[in-house]
Amino acid sequence: MPRQDQNVKTLLEEVTGRNLDCKKPPMSQTSHIVTPLISRKATGLKGRIRVPGDKSMSHRALMFGAVATGQTRISGLLEAEDVVNTAKAMAALGAKTEKLPSGEWLVDGVGVGGLKSPKGDLDFGNSGTGVRLAMGLMATTNLTARCVGDASLSKRPMGRVTVPLSEFGTTFEASEGNRLPLVLHGAANPKPVTYTLPVASAQVKSAVLLAGLNTKGVTTVIEPVATRDHTEKMLKGFGAKLSVELKDGARHISIEGGHELKAQVLAVPGDPSSAAFPMVAALITPGSDIVIENIMLNPTRTGLIDTLIEMGGDIKIENRRDAGGEEVGDLHVKSSRLKGVRVPEARAPSMIDEYPILSVAASFAEGTTRMEGLEELRVKESDRLAAVEAGLQANGVATSSGRDWLEVQGGGAPGGGRVVTHMDHRIAMSFLVMGLASRIMTKIDDSAFIATSFPGFTDLINGMGGRISAEEQK
Ligand code: S3P
Repeated sequence: MPRQDQNVKTLLEEVTGRNLDCKKPPMSQTSHIVTPLISRKATGLKGRIRVPGDKSMSHRALMFGAVATGQTRISGLLEAEDVVNTAKAMAALGAKTEKLPSGEWLVDGVGVGGLKSPKGDLDFGNSGTGVRLAMGLMATTNLTARCVGDASLSKRPMGRVTVPLSEFGTTFEASEGNRLPLVLHGAANPKPVTYTLPVASAQVKSAVLLAGLNTKGVTTVIEPVATRDHTEKMLKGFGAKLSVELKDGARHISIEGGHELKAQVLAVPGDPSSAAFPMVAALITPGSDIVIENIMLNPTRTGLIDTLIEMGGDIKIENRRDAGGEEVGDLHVKSSRLKGVRVPEARAPSMIDEYPILSVAASFAEGTTRMEGLEELRVKESDRLAAVEAGLQANGVATSSGRDWLEVQGGGAPGGGRVVTHMDHRIAMSFLVMGLASRIMTKIDDSAFIATSFPGFTDLINGMGGRISAEEQK
């Protein structure tokens, strides 16, 4: 096996705890070690911590580096399963990836249009972002690739990307219901596309823009509701000919294809979606006072911070600075008396991954919290609306819900429930956080999927005074 592939394989084994011997079936077909955990009442979290690098930026850094000209150097890359699977996929498509002893990652770009058909399946594990963005990246290059994922990813809808990508001339052989496993045949002579997003999805927007990179002419995505803008910002940083215009309240993002990208030196800041867990842990655990350093504060990602402050959370942003085009700061969080609020639909895209942990915060607030515009939660790593509601109810919290909304009664979670996590990292971490402040311990059926986004989560929380463990302790 070439050195860089061996390097990524070893890292993936480290992160997953699974043996990825080539003779064995791909990772998604192997069973993982089910690891239940319990979380018990803590007396106050203290410390200065850092969380791993931003997942959205990490996927993009590897993918854009893979099609740039020259060598991209990345520090702070999130070394979690989802991103390591993207690194493996880029290597399989011809772009060497390598981790240096310093912790930095190198990507040797093959140039726009330079990706090659991979020899085996591209396995994206649990990651919707990985597979959907990679499909866009491959769509307008003359190659064939079979994309697979784990049981959770194989249930998620891919039609939202195959439909617009087909307009470029890409063809797909998908499993029933437009799902994985799926074979993609890239368009040899792609035509530029103008596409209005039917769902507020940065993944769909990004897939179309990435397909536009290797398509002569101008590809435009019309985004009626703004979603995270990392693709636009980072592609511009790589030298893409990309412009954004606001017309009648909608963002029109245009990319002129057929131009090369230039390799970059990138530093990935801490992930606000990961910071969300220690942040809420500190708010709901009496006697807490923590600082979470170096968190990315891109305004398309800060909906949870705004909501928690509105709920009365004592969160101060210190040391605000610019780091490589993104605003970054340290979050100083103290335990607080929270009150219930109504979270409007318009805020959903800026905190889409944070509703599970917000729901936990809401269960400790005074009064009711109502969250609206949650339709997209139904198609995440699990049906998150159903999984969160079941977890809350299992722990004695009263809730009500509809197709796209959830109401949580506050007053403090009694706890004592066992939560089914449905292969969903954010459900697992949310209910471990709940246990730090609930009267009786909480249990989760499986913590293995935390490794998809937040390796080291349990040690980090316990290092601040948390009490998460495998065994019931006296
Ligand atoms: C992501 C976009 C979001 C988010 C996901 C990461 C991205 O998905 O839930 O975790 O990096 O573009 P949608 O854009 O499908 O809402």
